[in-house]
Formats: sequence, structure tokens, C-alpha cells
Amino acid sequence: MAQQKVTISINSKSNSLVLQTNNQNRLGTVYFGRSLANAAENNLISPQYHFNDSNAGIYNSAYTPAGTFNLVEPAIQVTHADGNQSLDLKYISNTIKKIDANVSLYTIVLRDSVYRDEVDLMYKVYYNENVIEQWSVIKNQEARPVRLEKYASANLYFASKNYYLTHYNGGWGREMNPEEEQLTHGIKSIDSKLGTRANLFEPSSFMVSFDKPATEDEGQVLLGTLAWSGNFKVDFELDSYKNLRLIAGINPYASAYQLAPAKAFITPPLIYTYSENGKGEASRNLHHWARNYRLADGHGDRLTLLNNWESTYFDFDEKKLIDLFKGAHNLGVDLFLLDDGWFGNKYPRNGDAAGLGDWQENRKKLPQGIGYLVKEAAKENIKFGIWLEPEMVNPKSDLYTKHPDWVVKQPQRPEIYFRNQLVLDLSNPEVQDFVYQILDSLFIKNPKLAFIKWDCNSPVYNAYSAYLQKNNLPQSLFYVDYVKGLYSVLSRVRAKYPKVPMMLCSGGGGRVDYGALQYFTEYWPSDNTNPLERIYIQWEYSYFFPVMASCNHVTDWSSVSLKFRTDVAMMGKMGYDIVVDKLSKNDLLFSQNAVSTYRSLKDLIFQGEMYRLVNPRENQMAALEFSSADKKKAVVFSYLTTNRFLLTASQLPVRLKGLSPSAVYQVKEINLYPGAVSSINDKQKYSGDFLMTVGINPDINLTRTSVVLEVKEVGTK
Ligand code: GLA
Repeated sequence: MAQQKVTISINSKSNSLVLQTNNQNRLGTVYFGRSLANAAENNLISPQYHFNDSNAGIYNSAYTPAGTFNLVEPAIQVTHADGNQSLDLKYISNTIKKIDANVSLYTIVLRDSVYRDEVDLMYKVYYNENVIEQWSVIKNQEARPVRLEKYASANLYFASKNYYLTHYNGGWGREMNPEEEQLTHGIKSIDSKLGTRANLFEPSSFMVSFDKPATEDEGQVLLGTLAWSGNFKVDFELDSYKNLRLIAGINPYASAYQLAPAKAFITPPLIYTYSENGKGEASRNLHHWARNYRLADGHGDRLTLLNNWESTYFDFDEKKLIDLFKGAHNLGVDLFLLDDGWFGNKYPRNGDAAGLGDWQENRKKLPQGIGYLVKEAAKENIKFGIWLEPEMVNPKSDLYTKHPDWVVKQPQRPEIYFRNQLVLDLSNPEVQDFVYQILDSLFIKNPKLAFIKWDCNSPVYNAYSAYLQKNNLPQSLFYVDYVKGLYSVLSRVRAKYPKVPMMLCSGGGGRVDYGALQYFTEYWPSDNTNPLERIYIQWEYSYFFPVMASCNHVTDWSSVSLKFRTDVAMMGKMGYDIVVDKLSKNDLLFSQNAVSTYRSLKDLIFQGEMYRLVNPRENQMAALEFSSADKKKAVVFSYLTTNRFLLTASQLPVRLKGLSPSAVYQVKEINLYPGAVSSINDKQKYSGDFLMTVGINPDINLTRTSVVLEVKEVGTK
């Protein structure tokens, strides 16, 4: 007997995802896009599309099982205890729980009628932000263990004419290079098998434009990113109707997961947003969501800092550091961050080949310990923070000698190193305790320690856990249990130290994702601090992550002017990695003024609406704007991005956004180098309408390569 169809509409402010059961009570996606004015009409959608071939809806399944009716890429594949590999999920029930005025959690229960296993599809909807977090909960209802071969978080389905995928590739020092391509039949996957530093080659963040490539302000576009710090896989498959099947989750590679009876496996969320007004609006949706709900301290302040990494590398002692504190004070920053090289005694950390794992102060470099440095920094009125790489070990360390079984390596094969180091086995609870205690004992000894930079430089080679082996557990648990172990340590750290700011680093941006960022206040996008490179790197990250989390440091990596370097660093969380004493008088004066200007702009940059105005990939310049929610203030950053001889890069004015058309504004160039005279007339008044329709010319040319404009409301028309 045909069942009554069930229609489930998952609605945010602008968008709807409509799911519906078919005649066999299997749940499929029938619509994804702008919400209908009358939600009752959602029932009428499915007959308008021709999704279903004679096999009854095998392509649009809301969570595609393997081994029965489905012949395309599955979302879930299991092996039951009896060896059978079939699964057929039918709709059982759905509930909506209102968490608060803005957030609702939809739970849809699907069940296999033979084996009774259940999958709950979870959709957490952030109504105003138009963001959905989607994951699945897989429940073993059998008497014996079930092996999960593939266990996706989300299985989406889109019906459009064409699809354009933007995904990213990278490597050390060259993170986030976008590539856009039209999807054709077959499966395009983005994935990582790197284990810890999973995003080194490519992150899970992606965009899909529908019909035609979306631009900043136009077009239908989905932005997605998996909240998981380990191996991931996102499949984009065009079916025979040219509809797009998207399946995202933990990478099934070498990761069959054994699930005991009555246990549930909770997959990490896929976070996505959809806009019909281009990538800019979609990215602002994610910024709002991240600040409101995900990033640690998303509405809090951030400390400006001076880091010693590029100025000293491993070569320092107490005196050198204390001199740098004076520089930090002189500059006006909030905190000094001591980077790598402060630990290890039997195997001193004087280079990257020794000492990782031995987290005791090096007695030669720091005879009076961290506590002394914290106090000395306080004398200069600055806070003190420290670098750690707690998941790693050098073979030349006490830790390696004492606990070889804590190290990820193959028992019968040669060790493989990345930066002379190996990864500790965080699937082992003892190792988790060890890592937790590195931080806990540092804080117990130094309660005033004010900042942690948590680094992670090596991917996983030779994946093998002595712990799993010893406990008769399958090696295929390793990749997943590693990340779970990491999150368990980080949540213990956060439970005890909820407020301490922590920077997420992975030899640059090797691990930037929302799984980790719930524990971190900020991330290090790249070791590459050449400001020209950074314009591109920061630009792409900003589609997915709010700039308040992006640590941008002024360094000596390049010979680009200090002003240019500083302006680029201001577009996020500014910091320094220079020797302040070596600055010329004017450079110092400029930097001191910049730090105080930044202090007055921070709130606007962190909490404002971000608009990408001029794309450096399409022009000879870049321009970005942050405007306040009340539209009374904005700051516009613009840069020359070519070395070619040009009379001017800004031939055209830059059209501003996010202002009030009827308000009157004045535009003033700020962050000028001492003695520089601006070519911008700061007495002229403009309507918001003028600034958004005609625009303003920042006058970017070879003598003015970087210009910051402050836009302030001075009245109404
Ligand atoms: C990584 C980080 C750098 C620095 C070094 C220290 O490469 O990305 O910022 O901390 O480690 O060894």
C-alpha cells in the first residue's frame, strides 16, 4: 500500500531544504534554494522535477545507503556482523526542537527494516544567519558489532543547469589557491589523507555556484566546510539527470569504524550556507554564524602581540627576550609571544631536529624559567604567551626514549619524518593525558600565562597505533580516534581555561577548520607573511572564516614597505614579528601610531560587515571594506598588487558598500607614514548614495601602493 507522503521543510530566513518521502517511504531531497512565500506549497514541488527513474528515487536520497536499491555513490556503507553488506533506510519520524529564538534542531529518524540499524539525520538551523550544520548519528541496533565502511555527515542534492565548483589547493607558505571548474559527469572529490595536518594540500572548504559562476554580489552559491580536523572527503557527483549529489564527511580511507551494539557514531557537521546574492553575502552569513556560535570568544577582543619567531628563530636567551619585551612595550602591543626553542635539556631545542616532547624550560637559555619571563613582561606592562607543539615528538627527545609506544610509526618499517619529527598517538588515553598535562602544568606553574600558540607541523606517515594493537582494536580506528582524542584534550583545556586566547597553527594554515576553531580564538593562516601574498591568502580564507580570527603579522619576510605590511596586517588580528629596536625613528613612530589606530578600528574590523570591493585576481589592485552594522562608519583598505609600470592602478573609483544612501560621509586617509601627505580631500562630503554608486578613488599608484580610508557619517541629506 502506498504511504501518505511526508514533507519536511528545513527553513532558514531566506532558504529552504525540502525533503519528502516517496511511495516506498524513502526520504529524498526535493528542493534546495530560496524559500517559497507560502510554505504550504512545498508539497507541490516534487512533481515539477523529474528526479525519479524507474528505480524510484535512487539519486536524490537524503542519505544514500549502499547494498540495496542504490547504485550511485553512497553516504553510508556498513558490514553487519553476519557479513551482510546491505542497508535500506526508510523514514520513521521527525522532530523539531527549538533551542532558542534563532536556532532549531531537526532530527529525522531513518531505519533499516531488516537489521533495525538507525540513522538520525541532524540539521541545526541558524535562522538569521542562513547557516545549517548537518550531521548524522548512526546507531547500531544489532546484538553484535557493525562495521561502518563509509559514514558521511551530509548528503545533499541540487537541481540546476550547471554547477561550478571552487576548491582550494596549497602547500607550506602557499595556502588557499582557488580553482574553479565546471562539474561534469562522474565524481569530483576533494579529500585529505594527511591525518593531523589535514589541510596542507587542500582544505574541506568549497563553493558551488549554480547555473553560472557566482561573483561577489551576484549568483546562487553554496559555501561549505566540514568541521573536522582530520581526513575528510567531499564527493560531487552529477547523476544522469545532471543533478548534483554532494556527499561530505570523514574520509572512509583506511577508516572502517567498528561500532559496538547499542552504540552511536556521531559524524562531524558539514557547515553550509546558501545565497542568491553571490559569494560576499554567503561569506558574511558564515562570519555572523562563526562569531555568534562557533569561534571561541567570537565577540570578544583579541590581543595584539609581538612574536619572536622570525626575529630570533631558536637563537635567544633571557636577556635577548627581555630586550624584545621592551620593544613590545615601546610598540604598544598587548602581549609577547615566545615561539619555538624554549624547552628541552638533554636534547635542547636549538633547531627543529631535537627536543619536541620535552616541555621543560631549557636551563641554559632560560635559567630562571617561564615564571621569570612572565614577571619581567609584566614589568613592561605586557602579557606573556608561549608556543607549544604538544602532539609531536622528535626522535631526539627524552619522551621518545621513554615512551616509544606513544609514537605513531610502523613497528617493522623505517620511520618517516616530516621536519625531523613524528606524531604522538592521540588515540591513546595516556597520550591524551600527557598532552593535557603539558598545558595544565604550565598554567598551574604560571597562572598569569596569557596566550597559547598550538602548533602541529607534521602530517601522519606510517599510520599505526601501538595502543590500538595492544587493546585488540582495529587499526582502522586510528585516524578518527586521533581527532576525537585531540578534541577531548582541547575540551578539557577549555573546561579549565575557558578564557585564555589560543592560536591554532599548523606550520601555517595546515589545520584551519571549524572542528578545531571552537576551541581557538584565532588561527595562523600561513607562515608566508609577504603582504602581497597575504592579500590573496587572507582574501580566500575570509570567505569561510571571520577575519577577527586571522592572525596577520608584520614581519621582515619581505622588503615591501612597512606601511604596506602594516595595512595588510590590520585586516584581521594584527601582530608583529620584528625587532622593534632595529626600526628607524620614523618606522617606530609609524608603527606606534598604527597600533593605536588599529586599537580604535579593531571593533569595526572584527564585528563589521566585510565587503570585497576589488578583486586582485581580476585587477591591478585589491580593495576591501569593513562597515559597521549601523552604517555610520567604514574602513576601506586598498593595495597595488602588481609591479608593472602603471600611471595609476585605480583608474576607476572604488564603489563602497554597506552604507546608508541618504547619510552624508567624509572620507579621510589614515595610517599615513610620517611626513606623507594624502591626496584624498578629507573635507569633501559625499552621500552614501554617491559613494556606493560612483565610488571614491583611493588614488593607488606606484607611489601610493597601500591606502587606508576611514569613512565616517557626518550627517544626513
Ligand atoms: C611553524 C609555525 C611557525 C613557527 C615555527 C616554529 O612553522 O608555522 O609560525 O611557530 O613552526 O618552529
